Amino acid sequence: MIPAPWALLAEVTHACPLHCPYCSNPLELVRRGAELPAADWARVFAEAAGLGIVQAHVSGGEPLLRPDLAEIVASADRAGVYTQLVTSGVGLTAGRLDVLLDAGLNSVQLSLQDARRPGSDLIAGRVSYDEKERAAEVVRAARVPFGLNVVLHRRNLDNLQEIIEVGSRWGADRIELANAQFHGWALHNRTALMPARAQLERAKAVIAAWRARHDRPELVWVMPDHHEGVPKPCMGGWGARSITVGPDGTALPCPAAYGITGLAFPNVRDEPLARIWSDSPAFNAYRGTGWMTGPCVECPRRETDFGGCRCQAHALTGDAARTDPACALSPDHHLVREAATAADAPGPPFVYRRPGAFR
Ligand code: SF4
Ligand code: FES
Repeated sequence: MIPAPWALLAEVTHACPLHCPYCSNPLELVRRGAELPAADWARVFAEAAGLGIVQAHVSGGEPLLRPDLAEIVASADRAGVYTQLVTSGVGLTAGRLDVLLDAGLNSVQLSLQDARRPGSDLIAGRVSYDEKERAAEVVRAARVPFGLNVVLHRRNLDNLQEIIEVGSRWGADRIELANAQFHGWALHNRTALMPARAQLERAKAVIAAWRARHDRPELVWVMPDHHEGVPKPCMGGWGARSITVGPDGTALPCPAAYGITGLAFPNVRDEPLARIWSDSPAFNAYRGTGWMTGPCVECPRRETDFGGCRCQAHALTGDAARTDPACALSPDHHLVREAATAADAPGPPFVYRRPGAFR
C-alpha cells in the first residue's frame, strides 16, 4: 500500500521574467504552446483531491504570465485544494491579486534574491526589486498568508541578517531560507554559487540569534549539503509526499527530476494521477529502500534520509541509484568535497539562461 501524497506542485508555465542562476526548471523549457490548458488543470486538481492531496503550490516559471491563472486557481478551489501562488512578484498588482483571491487563492509565496536592490537585481538577472517590494505591499494589504522564499548562496549569505529584516519589514509571516541545490541550471553556476563553510556557520548564528529574540517571521532553514557530509532527506523521499506536474503535463516525483535520463515520466494527459502515483515505473524507481546501492543498503540512516537526493546523484555521477555524493560514506563524496573546498576562492560571474531562448 503506497501512502497518499499530500502536496501538488503545479508548474503552470516555464515562462519567467527572471533569470536566476540557480533556476530549478529543466535545461529544456516547455514552450508556451505546449502548456496544459486550464480545463486539463481542472481535471488534475480534481484527481489530486481524489488521491488525498490537500495543498497545491501554483508555480512556474512565473504563474502570473498565464492569462487564465484565475480559472486555474478557481478549479483547484472547487476541488477543495488549498492553493499557494509561488511568484517572483513581477506583475502582482492589487487588481490581479483581488481576482485571484476571488477565485479562491489562499496564500502567496514571494521570492526575494537579496536584501538590497543592486544585489537582488543582479541575482535575478533583471531589474525587479522594486516590483517585489510593491508586490509585498499588495499581499500584506490583502491580509493573505504571506511567505518569502530566498535561495541562499555565496553571493547573498553574508546579507542574511538584512534579508530577514527586509522580510520582517515587508510583513512576511514566514521566510524560507533555502540553500541552493546544485543540479539543473545551478550546476552551470556551481562555482559562482557555492558558499564557503564559514559563511554557513555565520548564517546559522544569525538564524539562532533571530529566533532567540523574535517569534516572527518564522524562519525555515533548508539545510545545505555540500559541507556537512550529511545528505538531506530530499523531497521527504522519492514518490513519498508530493507530485510535480510540469507545464506540458509531465508528472514527476521531484521538480528537478526532468534531468534524470533513463526514466520515462508519465503525463497527466495520458493517465489518471492515481495510476501515475501508484503504478508508474518512474515514481516507483527510487521509492522506499529496495533500490538502494552501495553504503546505503545497510546504513542505519536509510529510512531517515532515503539515500539523499536522486537528482544530485544523477547530476554528479550519471546514475540516480548511487548514494548521494553529499554523503561522507559515498564513494563519490570527493565530487562534493572538491566543489565545497573550491568555494574558498573568489567565484566567477553568473551564467544566465539566454533571454528569449523559448517562446
Ligand atoms: Fe544516507 Fe546512504 Fe549516506 Fe547512509 S549511506 S547516510 S542512507 S546517503
Ligand atoms: Fe530531485 Fe533531490 S532534487 S530528488
